[in-house]
Amino acid sequence: MDFKKYIAQNIILDGINEEEIYALVTVAANSSFGDFALPCFTLAVRLNEKPFTLAKQIAQRYPKDQIVCEVEDTKGYVNFKINREYWTKVTLTKILTEGDEYGSSKIGEGKTICIDYSSINIAKPFHIGHLSTTVLGSCLYKIYKFLGYTVVGINYLGDYGTQFGKLVYAFEKWGDPALIATGGLRTINDLYVKFHKQAKLDASLEEKAREYSKKIEEGDSRCVSIYETLKAITLKEVTAIYKNLNVEFDDWLGESHFIAKVPDVVKELDSMHLLTENDGAKIVDLAEHNMPPALILRSDGASLYLTRDIAAAEYRKEKYNFDKSLYVVAYQQNLHFKQLFKVLELMDKNWVGDMQHIAYGMVSIEGMSMSTRNGVVIYLEDVITQCICKAESIIQAKNPDLPDLAEVARKIGLGAVIFSVVNMNRIKDVVFSYDKILNFEGETACYVQYTCARANSILEKGNITLQEKNSIIYLLKRLESDDISNTEFDLIKKLSEFPSILQMTLEKHEPCFVTRYAITVAQLFNKFYMESPILNANSYTTYRLALTQATLTTLTNALMLLGIEVPKKM
Ligand code: ARG
Repeated sequence: MDFKKYIAQNIILDGINEEEIYALVTVAANSSFGDFALPCFTLAVRLNEKPFTLAKQIAQRYPKDQIVCEVEDTKGYVNFKINREYWTKVTLTKILTEGDEYGSSKIGEGKTICIDYSSINIAKPFHIGHLSTTVLGSCLYKIYKFLGYTVVGINYLGDYGTQFGKLVYAFEKWGDPALIATGGLRTINDLYVKFHKQAKLDASLEEKAREYSKKIEEGDSRCVSIYETLKAITLKEVTAIYKNLNVEFDDWLGESHFIAKVPDVVKELDSMHLLTENDGAKIVDLAEHNMPPALILRSDGASLYLTRDIAAAEYRKEKYNFDKSLYVVAYQQNLHFKQLFKVLELMDKNWVGDMQHIAYGMVSIEGMSMSTRNGVVIYLEDVITQCICKAESIIQAKNPDLPDLAEVARKIGLGAVIFSVVNMNRIKDVVFSYDKILNFEGETACYVQYTCARANSILEKGNITLQEKNSIIYLLKRLESDDISNTEFDLIKKLSEFPSILQMTLEKHEPCFVTRYAITVAQLFNKFYMESPILNANSYTTYRLALTQATLTTLTNALMLLGIEVPKKM
């Protein structure tokens, strides 16, 4: 039941459509003023009215009924009160019957969304800088799916470039296969660092690297096999991390796959007279669009990151016929994506408007700085391990007899890592602090997880089955509006907002809407828990248990969409 929509439908204003009114109706934060409010300020300007007068008119004309039972105006706002009994019954019945489907919908049916995220580089460390793209992308992936879209998660591997010549050469010269088998990406990174150090002393190494790059491209079996080993080690390591973070992909085609398609891209650009020569290089001049030129081919004929992205974009359109194609990539690449989209537009790709760069800020760790070139790397794996260890010692201190302590700590540690980068508007830089993200009283995953565990233990003690629609309706039968406190009703209203929160998250591509929502629900639940006895409330017990279950269901679904698991006990 979308009460906002219900209210908007009943407000008829000349020249203003229902959607516009719908967008203005807000949920009142405090139930004592009403449940919804319509601010009349912008509407008044458009209708050439005074806000106070307009609010009064709307309030007087609004057709009250058994759902919207009171309508009043104050200072340019119209306040609507909903019949609490009705709303509570509808909301709780819906949540309890839908269970882990609550919040899902079919609005995306028949539409395909491609999401390029995480997109790691082969043989490079998987570090803290990759956390946001991985987690934000995965969250969007899960929400799109939940709302009925067909989603293609793409890990566009960085598996092409001159660095592989360096690495394969370094591997052959200094690499110890046994060491690499155990040390994995870290040992590979050491080789990379060593190469750069040596190359400073001996200029011929760069020449060697180019030679090896060529050998890989030409299919030299020894070089290719080293390259494949590096790739396998990378994928093995990142896959383990993805598994922990509950991240999935459907398409792993990397940059190297698109090399074969580069000549076609060049031909197409050429036939549209978009290419110009510049010092032997081929470029698309974007001066008219206030951008530096898009470099398509270097003077030695090699393609660039941008060229391969053009080919990959065309491939995605052809293969998946997407309705939207998203790139979850750091804001450092803003220019790259602006150029990419502009070149595709100049190529008359009418689908370029369906592409979007979902940019995000940087993540750093309090008191630590990272520089991949100098080998100072903060590995994501270490951050995760550290968080799990800290979680374990916190629980050890709070609840040493907890069964399955290690598994609970795993869920809490991972939850903290995920939540920390999502709980912020994505464009903001994040400074990661272990103490903050594992604070049980803060705006954290463990606060929400703890609330779930609390709800769960109440339900266990309450020992009541709330699965069947009829039994819920029956249990709630005697409930009346006066039985529902303001705090309880604030919680119920919040719970009913979940489906629209998910839709808003996708409109703005801001997963922080989900984390903030989860925090608010948890706070309201804890307020309710402090104010209203649940288990010894006699005739209200079933209603309050139903509310507890509905909260648990909603929070569990919200966390699941973030890739965070909920321990039963904490
Ligand atoms: N591998 C790239 C990097 O680490 C990110 C790739 C993003 N996706 C894309 N289609 N360009 O910077």
